[in-house]
Amino acid sequence: MKSGVLARYKDYLNLTPQTPMFSMGEGDTPLVRSRTLEKETGCGELYFKLEGCNPTGSFKDRGMVVAVAKAMEAGSKAIMCASTGNTSASAAAYAAYCGLTAIIMVPEGKIAPGKLAQAIVYGAKIVQIDGNFDQALHLVLKLTETHPVTLVNSLNPHRIEGQKTAAFEIIDVLGDAPDFQFIPVGNAGNITAYWKGYVEYYKSGKAKRRPKMMGFQAEGAAPIVRGHIVEQPQTIATAIRIGNPASWHKAEAARDESGGIIDMVSDAQILEAYHLMATKEGIFGEPASAASLAGLLKLSRQGSDFSGKRVVCIVTGNGLKDADIALKDAGQFARISPKMEDVEKMLGWR
Ligand code: F0G
Repeated sequence: MKSGVLARYKDYLNLTPQTPMFSMGEGDTPLVRSRTLEKETGCGELYFKLEGCNPTGSFKDRGMVVAVAKAMEAGSKAIMCASTGNTSASAAAYAAYCGLTAIIMVPEGKIAPGKLAQAIVYGAKIVQIDGNFDQALHLVLKLTETHPVTLVNSLNPHRIEGQKTAAFEIIDVLGDAPDFQFIPVGNAGNITAYWKGYVEYYKSGKAKRRPKMMGFQAEGAAPIVRGHIVEQPQTIATAIRIGNPASWHKAEAARDESGGIIDMVSDAQILEAYHLMATKEGIFGEPASAASLAGLLKLSRQGSDFSGKRVVCIVTGNGLKDADIALKDAGQFARISPKMEDVEKMLGWR
Protein backbone atom coordinates (compact mmCIF):
# COMPACT_ATOMS: atom_id res chain seq x y z
CA MET A 1 0.00 0.00 0.00
CA LYS A 2 1.23 3.50 -0.77
CA SER A 3 1.76 5.53 2.38
CA GLY A 4 0.45 8.75 0.80
CA VAL A 5 1.59 12.35 1.02
CA LEU A 6 0.71 12.97 4.70
CA ALA A 7 2.58 9.99 6.14
CA ARG A 8 5.51 9.99 3.70
CA TYR A 9 6.40 13.66 4.06
CA LYS A 10 5.03 14.40 7.54
CA ASP A 11 8.33 15.95 8.63
CA TYR A 12 8.03 18.57 5.90
CA LEU A 13 4.34 19.38 6.37
CA ASN A 14 2.77 21.54 9.01
CA LEU A 15 1.02 18.66 10.83
CA THR A 16 0.15 18.38 14.51
CA PRO A 17 -0.83 15.36 16.65
CA GLN A 18 -4.44 16.40 15.97
CA THR A 19 -4.14 16.31 12.17
CA PRO A 20 -6.09 13.30 10.86
CA MET A 21 -3.81 10.97 8.87
CA PHE A 22 -5.30 9.34 5.78
CA SER A 23 -4.57 8.73 2.13
CA MET A 24 -6.41 7.87 -1.06
CA GLY A 25 -3.11 6.76 -2.58
CA GLU A 26 -1.91 10.18 -3.79
CA GLY A 27 1.72 10.89 -4.62
CA ASP A 28 4.60 8.55 -5.46
CA THR A 29 3.81 9.02 -9.14
CA PRO A 30 6.00 7.56 -11.91
CA LEU A 31 8.98 9.42 -13.29
CA VAL A 32 9.34 7.91 -16.76
CA ARG A 33 12.49 8.27 -18.88
CA SER A 34 11.84 9.39 -22.45
CA ARG A 35 12.81 6.96 -25.19
CA THR A 36 12.37 9.20 -28.23
CA LEU A 37 11.84 12.88 -27.49
CA GLU A 38 14.99 13.01 -25.35
CA LYS A 39 17.05 12.66 -28.53
CA GLU A 40 14.80 14.91 -30.59
CA THR A 41 15.08 17.74 -28.08
CA GLY A 42 18.78 17.13 -27.47
CA CYS A 43 18.41 16.64 -23.71
CA GLY A 44 21.02 14.70 -21.78
CA GLU A 45 18.19 13.02 -19.89
CA LEU A 46 14.46 13.73 -20.24
CA TYR A 47 11.82 12.50 -17.80
CA PHE A 48 8.06 12.83 -17.55
CA LYS A 49 6.46 13.04 -14.10
CA LEU A 50 3.07 11.40 -14.49
CA GLU A 51 0.78 13.31 -12.14
CA GLY A 52 -2.23 11.90 -13.98
CA CYS A 53 -1.58 8.73 -11.97
CA ASN A 54 -2.92 10.34 -8.80
CA PRO A 55 -6.30 9.06 -7.49
CA THR A 56 -8.45 11.62 -9.31
CA GLY A 57 -6.09 11.92 -12.27
CA SER A 58 -4.21 15.12 -11.51
CA PHE A 59 -1.60 16.67 -9.20
CA LYS A 60 -4.34 18.40 -7.23
CA ASP A 61 -4.70 15.38 -4.93
CA ARG A 62 -1.32 16.08 -3.30
CA GLY A 63 -2.48 19.46 -2.07
CA MET A 64 -6.06 18.42 -1.44
CA VAL A 65 -5.15 15.67 1.03
CA VAL A 66 -3.28 18.21 3.18
CA ALA A 67 -5.92 20.95 2.81
CA VAL A 68 -8.73 18.55 3.74
CA ALA A 69 -6.81 17.10 6.70
CA LYS A 70 -6.14 20.60 8.05
CA ALA A 71 -9.78 21.62 7.43
CA MET A 72 -10.93 18.62 9.48
CA GLU A 73 -8.40 19.39 12.17
CA ALA A 74 -9.96 22.87 12.41
CA GLY A 75 -13.43 21.35 12.70
CA SER A 76 -14.68 22.30 9.25
CA LYS A 77 -17.57 20.33 7.73
CA ALA A 78 -17.51 21.80 4.22
CA ILE A 79 -14.95 22.80 1.60
CA MET A 80 -15.31 25.06 -1.42
CA CYS A 81 -13.31 25.94 -4.52
CA ALA A 82 -13.48 27.59 -7.92
CA SER A 83 -12.06 25.39 -10.61
CA THR A 84 -11.34 24.75 -14.26
CA GLY A 85 -12.10 21.13 -13.37
CA ASN A 86 -9.28 19.27 -11.69
CA THR A 87 -9.35 21.03 -8.34
CA SER A 88 -13.09 20.44 -8.16
CA ALA A 89 -12.72 16.73 -8.99
CA SER A 90 -10.09 16.36 -6.29
CA ALA A 91 -12.03 18.37 -3.69
CA ALA A 92 -15.16 16.33 -4.41
CA ALA A 93 -13.33 13.02 -4.02
CA TYR A 94 -11.52 13.87 -0.77
CA ALA A 95 -14.71 15.38 0.68
CA ALA A 96 -16.55 12.15 -0.14
CA TYR A 97 -13.80 10.06 1.47
CA CYS A 98 -13.83 12.19 4.61
CA GLY A 99 -17.58 12.74 4.92
CA LEU A 100 -17.45 16.47 4.20
CA THR A 101 -19.58 18.55 1.85
CA ALA A 102 -17.83 19.85 -1.29
CA ILE A 103 -19.16 22.91 -3.05
CA ILE A 104 -17.53 23.65 -6.38
CA MET A 105 -17.89 26.58 -8.76
CA VAL A 106 -17.02 26.04 -12.40
CA PRO A 107 -17.12 28.13 -15.59
CA GLU A 108 -20.06 27.00 -17.72
CA GLY A 109 -19.14 25.09 -20.87
CA LYS A 110 -15.38 25.44 -20.32
CA ILE A 111 -14.69 22.41 -18.18
CA ALA A 112 -13.67 19.09 -19.70
CA PRO A 113 -16.53 16.55 -19.55
CA GLY A 114 -14.54 13.97 -17.59
CA LYS A 115 -13.85 16.45 -14.80
CA LEU A 116 -17.49 17.48 -14.53
CA ALA A 117 -18.45 13.79 -14.48
CA GLN A 118 -16.07 13.28 -11.55
CA ALA A 119 -17.60 16.11 -9.51
CA ILE A 120 -21.11 14.80 -10.25
CA VAL A 121 -20.34 11.19 -9.33
CA TYR A 122 -18.44 12.09 -6.15
CA GLY A 123 -21.55 14.01 -5.09
CA ALA A 124 -20.32 17.60 -4.95
CA LYS A 125 -22.69 20.54 -4.92
CA ILE A 126 -22.03 22.11 -8.30
CA VAL A 127 -22.49 25.79 -9.11
CA GLN A 128 -21.93 26.62 -12.78
CA ILE A 129 -21.52 30.29 -13.53
CA ASP A 130 -21.97 32.09 -16.78
CA GLY A 131 -18.46 33.46 -16.44
CA ASN A 132 -14.82 32.38 -16.35
CA PHE A 133 -12.51 30.92 -13.70
CA ASP A 134 -11.25 34.29 -12.51
CA GLN A 135 -14.80 35.45 -11.78
CA ALA A 136 -15.57 32.17 -10.00
CA LEU A 137 -12.47 32.48 -7.81
CA HIS A 138 -13.40 36.04 -6.89
CA LEU A 139 -16.85 34.89 -5.74
CA VAL A 140 -15.50 31.88 -3.84
CA LEU A 141 -12.96 34.00 -1.96
CA LYS A 142 -15.73 36.30 -0.76
CA LEU A 143 -18.12 33.43 0.10
CA THR A 144 -15.54 31.51 2.13
CA GLU A 145 -14.76 34.66 4.11
CA THR A 146 -18.34 35.08 5.22
CA HIS A 147 -19.66 31.49 5.48
CA PRO A 148 -18.49 28.48 7.52
CA VAL A 149 -16.79 26.71 4.64
CA THR A 150 -13.08 26.19 4.02
CA LEU A 151 -11.45 27.53 0.86
CA VAL A 152 -9.44 24.77 -0.88
CA ASN A 153 -8.10 26.72 -3.85
CA SER A 154 -4.31 27.08 -3.88
CA LEU A 155 -4.61 30.34 -1.94
CA ASN A 156 -5.05 27.91 0.94
CA PRO A 157 -1.39 27.48 1.98
CA HIS A 158 -1.91 23.79 2.84
CA ARG A 159 -2.53 23.09 -0.87
CA ILE A 160 0.93 24.44 -1.74
CA GLU A 161 2.47 22.43 1.11
CA GLY A 162 1.04 19.21 -0.28
CA GLN A 163 1.95 19.97 -3.87
CA LYS A 164 5.58 20.70 -3.03
CA THR A 165 6.01 16.97 -2.30
CA ALA A 166 6.22 16.30 -6.04
CA ALA A 167 9.58 18.12 -6.07
CA PHE A 168 10.71 15.98 -3.13
CA GLU A 169 9.82 12.83 -5.06
CA ILE A 170 11.80 13.91 -8.11
CA ILE A 171 14.87 14.45 -5.95
CA ASP A 172 14.26 11.22 -4.01
CA VAL A 173 14.21 9.30 -7.30
CA LEU A 174 16.98 11.09 -9.24
CA GLY A 175 19.26 11.65 -6.24
CA ASP A 176 19.36 15.38 -6.98
CA ALA A 177 17.25 18.11 -8.54
CA PRO A 178 17.14 18.25 -12.36
CA ASP A 179 18.73 21.13 -14.28
CA PHE A 180 15.42 22.24 -15.80
CA GLN A 181 11.80 21.66 -14.91
CA PHE A 182 9.09 22.44 -17.47
CA ILE A 183 5.61 23.03 -16.09
CA PRO A 184 2.26 24.45 -17.24
CA VAL A 185 1.14 27.64 -15.50
CA GLY A 186 -2.50 28.52 -14.88
CA ASN A 187 -3.41 29.91 -11.49
CA ALA A 188 0.34 29.58 -10.74
CA GLY A 189 0.03 27.55 -7.54
CA ASN A 190 1.89 24.53 -8.83
CA ILE A 191 5.04 26.32 -10.04
CA THR A 192 5.05 28.05 -6.64
CA ALA A 193 4.73 24.71 -4.84
CA TYR A 194 7.47 22.94 -6.81
CA TRP A 195 9.88 25.79 -6.23
CA LYS A 196 9.12 25.72 -2.49
CA GLY A 197 9.81 21.97 -2.47
CA TYR A 198 13.10 22.29 -4.35
CA VAL A 199 14.29 25.09 -2.07
CA GLU A 200 13.37 23.17 1.11
CA TYR A 201 15.15 19.98 0.03
CA TYR A 202 18.17 22.04 -1.05
CA LYS A 203 18.29 23.75 2.34
CA SER A 204 17.98 20.44 4.18
CA GLY A 205 20.90 19.04 2.19
CA LYS A 206 18.85 16.48 0.24
CA ALA A 207 19.74 18.19 -3.05
CA LYS A 208 22.93 19.87 -4.19
CA ARG A 209 21.27 22.13 -6.71
CA ARG A 210 17.97 23.67 -7.69
CA PRO A 211 16.41 23.53 -11.15
CA LYS A 212 15.59 26.40 -13.44
CA MET A 213 11.79 26.69 -13.38
CA MET A 214 10.45 26.86 -16.94
CA GLY A 215 6.76 27.82 -16.77
CA PHE A 216 4.47 27.87 -19.81
CA GLN A 217 1.13 29.59 -20.21
CA ALA A 218 -1.24 29.26 -23.17
CA GLU A 219 -0.89 32.15 -25.63
CA GLY A 220 -4.54 33.22 -25.21
CA ALA A 221 -4.23 33.07 -21.42
CA ALA A 222 -0.75 34.40 -20.72
CA PRO A 223 -1.14 37.26 -18.22
CA ILE A 224 2.27 36.74 -16.58
CA VAL A 225 4.07 36.74 -19.94
CA ARG A 226 2.19 39.80 -21.17
CA GLY A 227 2.42 41.62 -17.85
CA HIS A 228 -1.26 42.38 -17.54
CA ILE A 229 -4.57 40.69 -16.64
CA VAL A 230 -6.25 38.96 -19.58
CA GLU A 231 -9.98 39.70 -19.27
CA GLN A 232 -11.18 37.05 -21.73
CA PRO A 233 -8.67 34.18 -21.58
CA GLN A 234 -9.00 31.65 -24.39
CA THR A 235 -7.30 28.31 -25.01
CA ILE A 236 -8.23 24.73 -25.83
CA ALA A 237 -6.26 23.82 -22.71
CA THR A 238 -9.24 24.65 -20.47
CA ALA A 239 -7.36 23.71 -17.27
CA ILE A 240 -5.11 26.75 -17.69
CA ARG A 241 -7.69 29.15 -19.13
CA ILE A 242 -6.94 31.76 -16.48
CA GLY A 243 -6.44 35.50 -16.94
CA ASN A 244 -5.52 36.65 -13.43
CA PRO A 245 -3.52 33.99 -11.56
CA ALA A 246 -3.83 34.02 -7.77
CA SER A 247 -0.13 33.21 -7.26
CA TRP A 248 1.13 35.59 -9.95
CA HIS A 249 3.91 37.17 -7.87
CA LYS A 250 5.04 33.89 -6.33
CA ALA A 251 5.37 32.42 -9.80
CA GLU A 252 7.51 35.38 -10.85
CA ALA A 253 9.63 34.87 -7.75
CA ALA A 254 10.10 31.17 -8.61
CA ARG A 255 11.11 32.16 -12.13
CA ASP A 256 13.56 34.84 -11.01
CA GLU A 257 15.12 33.05 -8.04
CA SER A 258 15.68 29.91 -10.13
CA GLY A 259 17.00 31.75 -13.19
CA GLY A 260 14.16 30.31 -15.28
CA ILE A 261 11.49 31.77 -17.53
CA ILE A 262 7.74 32.03 -17.91
CA ASP A 263 6.85 31.94 -21.59
CA MET A 264 3.86 30.95 -23.69
CA VAL A 265 2.88 28.35 -26.26
CA SER A 266 0.08 28.49 -28.84
CA ASP A 267 -2.84 26.08 -28.92
CA ALA A 268 -1.28 24.54 -32.06
CA GLN A 269 1.98 23.95 -30.19
CA ILE A 270 0.09 22.48 -27.24
CA LEU A 271 -1.82 20.09 -29.51
CA GLU A 272 1.35 19.06 -31.35
CA ALA A 273 3.07 18.25 -28.05
CA TYR A 274 -0.07 16.46 -26.82
CA HIS A 275 0.01 14.15 -29.85
CA LEU A 276 3.80 13.67 -29.78
CA MET A 277 3.75 12.74 -26.10
CA ALA A 278 1.10 10.11 -26.83
CA THR A 279 2.45 8.70 -30.10
CA LYS A 280 6.18 8.83 -29.29
CA GLU A 281 6.16 8.12 -25.56
CA GLY A 282 2.86 6.38 -24.84
CA ILE A 283 1.80 9.12 -22.41
CA PHE A 284 -1.75 10.44 -22.59
CA GLY A 285 -1.84 13.76 -20.75
CA GLU A 286 -4.60 16.31 -20.96
CA PRO A 287 -3.97 19.32 -23.23
CA ALA A 288 -2.85 21.68 -20.43
CA SER A 289 -0.30 19.07 -19.35
CA ALA A 290 1.26 19.13 -22.78
CA ALA A 291 2.27 22.77 -22.29
CA SER A 292 5.40 21.46 -20.51
CA LEU A 293 6.62 19.50 -23.52
CA ALA A 294 5.38 22.19 -25.91
CA GLY A 295 7.65 24.62 -24.06
CA LEU A 296 10.64 22.30 -24.27
CA LEU A 297 10.05 21.73 -28.00
CA LYS A 298 9.71 25.46 -28.58
CA LEU A 299 12.99 26.26 -26.85
CA SER A 300 14.96 23.40 -28.39
CA ARG A 301 13.76 24.41 -31.87
CA GLN A 302 14.81 27.98 -31.14
CA GLY A 303 18.28 26.62 -30.48
CA SER A 304 18.45 26.23 -26.71
CA ASP A 305 21.06 23.63 -25.81
CA PHE A 306 19.97 20.99 -23.33
CA SER A 307 22.82 18.58 -24.02
CA GLY A 308 24.20 17.02 -20.87
CA LYS A 309 21.25 18.45 -18.94
CA ARG A 310 18.67 16.61 -16.91
CA VAL A 311 15.19 17.83 -17.78
CA VAL A 312 11.82 16.97 -16.20
CA CYS A 313 8.45 17.74 -17.83
CA ILE A 314 5.49 17.67 -15.47
CA VAL A 315 2.45 15.95 -16.98
CA THR A 316 -0.11 17.46 -14.67
CA GLY A 317 -3.33 15.63 -15.61
CA ASN A 318 -4.68 12.50 -17.28
CA GLY A 319 -5.74 12.68 -20.93
CA LEU A 320 -8.92 10.68 -20.33
CA LYS A 321 -10.43 13.67 -18.56
CA ASP A 322 -10.70 15.49 -21.86
CA ALA A 323 -11.36 12.67 -24.31
CA ASP A 324 -13.48 15.02 -26.46
CA ILE A 325 -10.33 16.79 -27.63
CA ALA A 326 -8.81 13.47 -28.70
CA LEU A 327 -11.92 12.35 -30.56
CA LYS A 328 -12.66 15.70 -32.20
CA ASP A 329 -9.79 15.52 -34.68
CA ALA A 330 -9.94 11.77 -35.20
CA GLY A 331 -12.36 11.89 -38.15
CA GLN A 332 -14.45 8.93 -39.21
CA PHE A 333 -13.28 5.34 -39.02
CA ALA A 334 -14.10 3.11 -41.96
CA ARG A 335 -16.68 0.48 -41.07
CA ILE A 336 -16.37 -2.87 -42.77
CA SER A 337 -18.11 -6.21 -42.64
CA PRO A 338 -16.90 -8.72 -40.03
CA LYS A 339 -15.36 -10.92 -42.75
CA MET A 340 -11.75 -12.05 -42.64
CA GLU A 341 -11.02 -11.10 -46.23
CA ASP A 342 -12.46 -7.61 -45.80
CA VAL A 343 -10.37 -7.07 -42.67
CA GLU A 344 -7.25 -8.30 -44.46
CA LYS A 345 -8.01 -6.05 -47.42
CA MET A 346 -8.43 -3.07 -45.15
CA LEU A 347 -5.10 -3.78 -43.48
CA GLY A 348 -3.43 -4.13 -46.87
CA TRP A 349 -2.59 -7.76 -46.22
CA ARG A 350 -4.52 -9.14 -49.17
N1 F0G B 1 -2.38 21.41 -15.42
C1 F0G B 1 -3.60 20.99 -15.08
C2 F0G B 1 -4.06 19.67 -15.59
C3 F0G B 1 -4.42 21.77 -14.24
O1 F0G B 1 -5.63 21.35 -13.90
C4 F0G B 1 -3.95 23.03 -13.80
C5 F0G B 1 -4.76 23.89 -12.95
C6 F0G B 1 -2.65 23.41 -14.19
C7 F0G B 1 -1.90 22.58 -15.00
C8 F0G B 1 -2.05 24.68 -13.75
O2 F0G B 1 -1.69 24.65 -12.42
O3 F0G B 1 -3.11 26.53 -11.64
O4 F0G B 1 -1.28 25.61 -10.21
O5 F0G B 1 -0.74 26.91 -12.25
N2 F0G B 1 -5.99 23.67 -12.69
C9 F0G B 1 -6.79 24.44 -11.72
C10 F0G B 1 -8.13 23.78 -11.48
C11 F0G B 1 -6.86 25.87 -12.02
O6 F0G B 1 -9.10 24.46 -11.13
O7 F0G B 1 -8.21 22.57 -11.61
P1 F0G B 1 -1.70 26.01 -11.57
